[in-house]
Amino acid sequence: MELHSRLAGFIEDDRVRQMEDYLAHGKISVFSHCLDVAATSYKLDKIFKTGCDLDVLLTGALLHDYYLYDWHDARLFVNVFKMHGFTHPEKARENAVRDFAVDEKVQKVIRSHMWPLTFRSFPSSKEAFIVCMADKICALKETVLRW
Ligand SMILES: [Fe+2]
Ligand SMILES: [Fe+2]
Repeated sequence: MELHSRLAGFIEDDRVRQMEDYLAHGKISVFSHCLDVAATSYKLDKIFKTGCDLDVLLTGALLHDYYLYDWHDARLFVNVFKMHGFTHPEKARENAVRDFAVDEKVQKVIRSHMWPLTFRSFPSSKEAFIVCMADKICALKETVLRW
């Protein structure tokens, strides 16, 4: 399948697989959540014929939560503006640049995926907007509907 062939290099990478060690929502690992966001982004692109750059879209989706820590750790809750929801896009972006030298387009996808919570980081490309929507759809499934 096109989705997996485009992401094969990342999916088989041990550094990306570290996301299996952390939980996203409920009992879903961050790795599974990121794969789900990539698959949902891919579907949205096909349904709405957005003509996204698929490498930017799928790489950004897979690495959007590449922050690599346990966000349930109580020590992270000391300052509301340093809370995970606000800060993790930037941490994920930094890690993606460090490990995979992702370009500015992919960085934009990662940086703005929590909008509107991170109000100033607006998803200002097609790819960023779709991943932002796909992330919310998947988070809703995982937390409310428990699919
Ligand atoms: Fe996130
Ligand atoms: Fe996410």
